[in-house]
Amino acid sequence: MSAPDVFPPAPEVSAAAHISSFEKYQEMYEKSVREPSEFWGEIANEFYWRVPPAQPFLNYNFDVTKGKIFIEWMKGAVTNICYNVLDRNVHEKKLGDKVAFYWEGNEPGDSTSITYAELLKKVCQFANVLRDQGVKKGDRVSIYMPMVIELVVAMLACARIGAIHSIVFAGFSAESLCERILDSHCTLLITADGFFRGDKLINLKLIADEALKKCTEKNYSLKKCIVLKHLARDDAICDGSSKTSPPCKRLCQNVQGNKQNRARQAVPQTTWNPSVDLWWHELVKKASMECEPEWCDAEDELFILYTSGSTGKPKGVVHSVGGYMIFTATTFKYVFDYHQDDVYWCTADIGWITGHSYLTYGPLANGATSVLFEGLPIYPDISRMWQIIDKYNVSKFYTAPTAIRLLMKYGEEPVKRYSRKSLKILGTVGEPINPEAWLWYYNVVGEKRCPIVDTFWQTETGGHVLTPLPGATATKPGSATFPFFGVVPAILNESGEELEGEAEGYLVFKQPWPALMRTVYGNHERFEMTYFKKFPGFYVTGDGCRRDKDGYYWITGRIDDMLNVSGHLLSTAEVESALVEHSSVAEAAAVSHPHPVKGECLYCFVTLRDGHEFTKSLTDQLKKLVREKIGPIATPDYIQNAPGLPKTRSGKIMRRVLRKIAKNDRELGDVSTLADTAVLQQLFENRCQTIQS
Ligand code: WT7
Repeated sequence: MSAPDVFPPAPEVSAAAHISSFEKYQEMYEKSVREPSEFWGEIANEFYWRVPPAQPFLNYNFDVTKGKIFIEWMKGAVTNICYNVLDRNVHEKKLGDKVAFYWEGNEPGDSTSITYAELLKKVCQFANVLRDQGVKKGDRVSIYMPMVIELVVAMLACARIGAIHSIVFAGFSAESLCERILDSHCTLLITADGFFRGDKLINLKLIADEALKKCTEKNYSLKKCIVLKHLARDDAICDGSSKTSPPCKRLCQNVQGNKQNRARQAVPQTTWNPSVDLWWHELVKKASMECEPEWCDAEDELFILYTSGSTGKPKGVVHSVGGYMIFTATTFKYVFDYHQDDVYWCTADIGWITGHSYLTYGPLANGATSVLFEGLPIYPDISRMWQIIDKYNVSKFYTAPTAIRLLMKYGEEPVKRYSRKSLKILGTVGEPINPEAWLWYYNVVGEKRCPIVDTFWQTETGGHVLTPLPGATATKPGSATFPFFGVVPAILNESGEELEGEAEGYLVFKQPWPALMRTVYGNHERFEMTYFKKFPGFYVTGDGCRRDKDGYYWITGRIDDMLNVSGHLLSTAEVESALVEHSSVAEAAAVSHPHPVKGECLYCFVTLRDGHEFTKSLTDQLKKLVREKIGPIATPDYIQNAPGLPKTRSGKIMRRVLRKIAKNDRELGDVSTLADTAVLQQLFENRCQTIQS
């Protein structure tokens, strides 16, 4: 029996949903794009403003030919996002005793929780610590931490005092951290001693030290580095101070309960530089738990988050306070059809935009209870995810296609060991989901009961832009369906003409929604060049897209020199620049290659310098080099010896051709612009000289 190709929402799902029919979605959508100021103005009224938004509510220019690109929502209005996601919930909505986060550690049984009232106190306390360290409004603070509650505390403390957080995913290398600190001139770093990823110890402080050393070599010194004792939390914090801090006490007890697991590994002594390093637990002891927020303009910068750029150097995507706040709150509410008794779990790391928008700001703005998970999907066993869902009665679950494909490999049995009866809605994000994985998610995980929301968006878009709404949208496996409120997509051909009806081409957006990025940190020109230059008047996503006869949008993948490994964007240029740093490599070209679990992986071609030999040891060194430069996610799966690369007469490497060679596909298409076709034969022959990991 073949599966149906359209999945309408079940009547009982629609009946209970905020948006209960497609007609209601259409009605709201029409209003949101025709009268954006009215539509978002009503939503903004639900928030706390020192100075409420006035006219013009929205002001922008999307057309480079008409002048500088700018986007302003509610400029002149004054608020604080931390106040809105914490104080407002505690004081106005009386949600102080509600759990904000259930923290589930890497080891099962290693867990704690924190209420809204407790989180508010910890955030205020740490905000005071930051102020004591001289951090002021507009200063940049780099955060390099594992998935712990203190990561949320650190980011909200920055937001409270108007400092700009720049979170760097804890899987990034010292080099990447250094580059990000330098680019945004961060004055302070917040990190942790270390953490476990599965049974592997990550000595985070050591990596942070190396990053700071690299910064110093480039004549840049951070003032201070605040270090959270996470690995050896029990010794550090349970020294009496826990009596005044109940969440800490519970955490300590649990961690102690799990000490034996940890004891298998010798936890190294934390390296210490007394002129820079400060222990988190010592600083907070002296700090008050009350802290007046810094009142900010809606257009003040909230955070910087780096994302890969096609030229290699990462771009610091800047989001601002007001627009980001109302958009993440609204998408969270409607896309996950959030209700007060939900338990929501987003598996993304806070180091990525998904963790910013849908683990922190969006859920907290709604007063939601979330699971914050430190560990891995299949550690210590392949049922861990389903076990956690039952443990906390998770009702809304949000993960990535790569995780679904990984779990799918183990079949249905590990899933069925747990009931998952609490589940109501399943979400996915990060890359196109193949229909096979979609159907497994729907049939096996959700037992045909839970709508799937395939949410398309980007670090740049701040929140969901194409997505189904669970009670309103009939879904099609593999399609992100329709635009969210306020979002106007279009498909353009190569000459920039807008295509109507069934069509395929470049996905662009015609007008801003509140959470669209405002600039590239320190480089507004790069912002204009990257997103607005190719097609004046439109925001260009960099993704290809197809619209079917029913108007559904299907993302076909990146059309620039970017690739998506396990839902993480990488640029081929950054990998290539790492490879050519090796003394044996004269030139390198990296392309994306299909991978059954990761979606895409890296296939690299290297041209060696004269007199150097292509050996297993060399490829090991090259893989290590890329890991060290960028991080483990960028480790190439294949490295091929390429005495010559296919280039155009102007010298541009034809990566399109290399992608075909990697797949052993001889249908190369038009190669008339190639300077030397002889290299092709050699590249096909050399496929056997490829080292696969
Ligand atoms: C790129 C953005 C948004 C948070 C995670 C990634 C791809 C993302 C989908 C989806 C098809 C998707 C696009 C996009 N992408 N979600 N549901 N269907 N593709 O954020 O690192 O900024 O990457 O991820 O290619 O451009 P990011």
